[in-house]
Amino acid sequence: MRIVCLISGGGTNLKALIDWQANDLLGGARIVAVISNTAAALGLERADNAEIPTKVLSHHDFPNRSAFDHALIEFIDTYEPDLIVLAGFMLVLSKDFVTHYDRRLINIHPSLLPKYKGLNTHKRALEAGDNYTGATVHWVTSEVDAGDIIRQVEVPIMGEDTEETLKARVLDAEHTLYPSVIRDLSLGLIEC
Ligand code: GAR
Repeated sequence: MRIVCLISGGGTNLKALIDWQANDLLGGARIVAVISNTAAALGLERADNAEIPTKVLSHHDFPNRSAFDHALIEFIDTYEPDLIVLAGFMLVLSKDFVTHYDRRLINIHPSLLPKYKGLNTHKRALEAGDNYTGATVHWVTSEVDAGDIIRQVEVPIMGEDTEETLKARVLDAEHTLYPSVIRDLSLGLIEC
């Protein structure tokens, strides 16, 4: 299963995928390219270190988002991917993009969807006084954070948690959740 990863930042989920791949734990899945919409993304360095081809494609270099999304499709398709993995990719993708990769596009989101779609998920969970939160891997559809859920993991919220400590605990859980979903997709254990 050929995977193209889209990132925008820290790339710690990408790092987890690279580590699982390096240890032969990703089933038949292989990351064939990493694309970032920002040149500063630390994830690009992680991919370089693992000798995975990288590309920066910035939406600021295109006249509009539709032109960017179509250029992104064109570039991604040169890698003939079976699966597109959004790993902290912080742009909302167009309907055309999402339709082109129907059932081939997954995302990880730092909450127990359908709770807390969008941004600031940890802050909202803390403000609501929730006892637990989590992370969700889901198929991407044109409605943001609303596609079918593939798998979730729960994470407890402690009394002394801040946004930062909670984010770190959720990220830690994401680093097992995402690779395990991708492994199971590649092994045919999850239906597309
Ligand atoms: C992760 O927590 C991921 O769930 C979240 O961004 C972080 C990326 O971290 N994604 C979203 O909020 C998508 N809407 P990373 O770059 O270190 O993997």
